Amino acid sequence: MRLRTIQLCRRLIWAVAMNNKQNKPTVSQGSDPAFFSCWDMHAYYAESYIVQGVSFNIREGEIVALLGRNGAGKTTVLRSIARAADPQLHHGELWLDHQPLHKMEDYQVAQLGVALVPEDRCIIGGLSVAENLQLAQIEKPIGWSIERIYEHFPRLGERRNQDGITLSGGEQQMLAVARALARDVKLLLLDEPYEGLAPVIVNDIEKILLNIKQLGITTIIVEQNAVAALRLADRALILDTGKLVFDGTAQEVLDNEALRHQYLAI
Ligand SMILES: Nc1ncnc2c1ncn2[C@@H]1O[C@H](COP(=O)(O)OP(=O)(O)O)[C@@H](O)[C@H]1O
Ligand SMILES: [Mg+2]
Repeated sequence: MRLRTIQLCRRLIWAVAMNNKQNKPTVSQGSDPAFFSCWDMHAYYAESYIVQGVSFNIREGEIVALLGRNGAGKTTVLRSIARAADPQLHHGELWLDHQPLHKMEDYQVAQLGVALVPEDRCIIGGLSVAENLQLAQIEKPIGWSIERIYEHFPRLGERRNQDGITLSGGEQQMLAVARALARDVKLLLLDEPYEGLAPVIVNDIEKILLNIKQLGITTIIVEQNAVAALRLADRALILDTGKLVFDGTAQEVLDNEALRHQYLAI
């Protein structure tokens, strides 16, 4: 687990540090009115067929909750969008603001503004809070200034010189979200932001995410705490064994007890 975290962090540093010399692929403009579009995604871990033909669209500024039981494939969908090396995207198209993510590698997708805040938060130990944020801004396009981040996350400002890995779980989650905002984010992917946090801390993080919602950042939030995610989201998608079984409004999920019971156990 520790080794995997280190590998992920190395990859993140590398992705951030890469310069922007790659040629942009040719894009057919105007083919899709959605800001983000996932069409017929099929993703594998080696021989394991996990995401089995998932399609959905997201409008600019929308917050979408991606829900489903443990093991349904939610993290795999997020990692496929971020073009992580694992899983492998065998088939499907991913378009963000007319750019074909499915033809790109992880660092190119990161440069375009896709920010994955992973479940393990991936805070880099040995670096202070401030250094964790500065690292995210090694290359353009830069998002919020560090000072603006401290205004919105005063706790991080107070702890700016503290080693990031020594923060509490809630503070590490704040740092992980802040690090995403330090870049110019077009699509924010949050994987279980409330995981392992006490209810009072969940409230703190929820306030921050509501704040981000006001800024109109297009977001996909994966969360086991479906009720909390639905409070935040405009729309909901429900995954079950790698297939999409529901695509509708957050309110429709809240109103449909049978659906919640069958797929979310709430
Ligand atoms: N690195 C991996 N290698 C092989 N199988 C994996 C890997 N990560 C996840 N899986 C499998 O893929 C399925 C979906 O996992 P995941 O996307 O993490 O689900 P969720 O996030 O919905 O809990 C599960 O059956 C899980 O065991
Ligand atoms: Mg997961």
